[in-house]
Amino acid sequence: MAIRKIRTGDDPVLRKISRPVEEVNDRIIQIIDDMVDTLHNIGNGIGLAAPQIGILRRIIVIDIGEGIIELINPEILEERGSQIDIEGCLSLPDRSGNVERPFYVKVKGLNRKGEEVIIEGEDILARVLCHEIDHLNGILFIDKIIEE
Ligand code: NI
Repeated sequence: MAIRKIRTGDDPVLRKISRPVEEVNDRIIQIIDDMVDTLHNIGNGIGLAAPQIGILRRIIVIDIGEGIIELINPEILEERGSQIDIEGCLSLPDRSGNVERPFYVKVKGLNRKGEEVIIEGEDILARVLCHEIDHLNGILFIDKIIEE
């Protein structure tokens, strides 16, 4: 387990599309462990996507204080409603702004055992899921700010 450096600002890795994980092996579990350590080390972070530590793989971790969520190859299956709230990002520490997100999302992914899991999130959890999945597609919240 290790704390990794968070890529920030206009680091080009943040704009690349991450590749799906084909096999959940020890290397992938190591990446997840490092992501959790890195997220918890920061203190005020609630989510992290692998490209933020320079790894272009489709992995996200989330901790909004209700237990850690780890998702490999996350995919949004359903979304409903909308919410507008202020958003920030560990990779853009000096920026924040209002972003519209769905109020509810249903996401499919794999856990660290390679088992398929479904996560349903409302409100802040829906927001973080969308934000982190955007990272896997090279999209940052500043692309979606409706008001700064
Ligand atoms: Ni972010």
